Amino acid sequence: MTKTAAVTGAASGIGQAACRRLLDAGWIVFGMDNAPERLNTVAAGFATYQDRFRPVVCDVTDAARVASVFAEIPVLNALIACAGVLRTALMEDMAIEDFDLVLNVNMRGTFLAAQKALPALRAGVTPDNPSRVVMLSSLAALRPKIVSGAYAASKAAVTQLCRVMAAEWAPSGVLVNALAPGTVDTPMVAAVSDPTASKGYRPSGVSPVGRIAQPDDVVDVMMFLLSDGARYVAGTTIPVDGGTAAAFIPPGSNR
Ligand SMILES: NC(=O)c1ccc[n+]([C@@H]2O[C@H](COP(=O)([O-])OP(=O)(O)OC[C@H]3O[C@@H](n4cnc5c(N)ncnc54)[C@H](O)[C@@H]3O)[C@@H](O)[C@H]2O)c1
Repeated sequence: MTKTAAVTGAASGIGQAACRRLLDAGWIVFGMDNAPERLNTVAAGFATYQDRFRPVVCDVTDAARVASVFAEIPVLNALIACAGVLRTALMEDMAIEDFDLVLNVNMRGTFLAAQKALPALRAGVTPDNPSRVVMLSSLAALRPKIVSGAYAASKAAVTQLCRVMAAEWAPSGVLVNALAPGTVDTPMVAAVSDPTASKGYRPSGVSPVGRIAQPDDVVDVMMFLLSDGARYVAGTTIPVDGGTAAAFIPPGSNR
């Protein structure tokens, strides 16, 4: 039977790569984003999948819109909650508007998408096939970094939402997990890679594996969480960081 997913943040980076992989695997994908032009461009790139990619303009901070979008989707097998923003500043300098935006999109938007998707996810549950939610947390939730305190707090909140939703929803067959990537080569990171323009922010950079992640490195683990092999996995946040958080590497180390 054809499976159906909703992906938020579908117009860029990890969300876009997730859509492509799901389409390649035969899924129907509702790709949601608040950037209509980029979403149209992505949809045009997915034309070979014909009507299996369904672009939906949706701002995850707009509770009424999120509710109405998910009310139109009767059955879902998976929600991939990728929509996110990064705003950088030292805590003492951070504009309240930026703080609110980061918490609104990353924490509240993830909560809203998951809550409003839940009826359709429950409708997709079969005895052999639990429905899945995969949230995008971040390495910042596990090891926060200076100049991105609001982002770290928002991603720590995603990890806690994941744990509580997992315990509350697993009995009805909905498995909730999160991924915690380190630096991934996406437009989000490109936008802050110049420290002078990003108020001194520096991405975590090359991992012990010897490179930063590509979106597909993250999508591979997402696909595992959607697979039968992950049927007993719930409430986890899985680091996808090439070992970045595993051990502190003192400055000047020859590694
Ligand atoms: N790139 C990284 O290094 C990295 C690391 C850890 C976690 N993450 C997380 O992974 C997720 C995807 O990040 P990415 O690197 O692909 O970023 P990205 O900027 O390339 O893509 C994010 C997408 O989310 C959309 N979006 C933003 N606000 C929205 C809103 N209010 N409603 C709907 N869509 C909205 C954007 O338009 C964009 O298309 C984010 O949650 C991010 O925090 C990224």
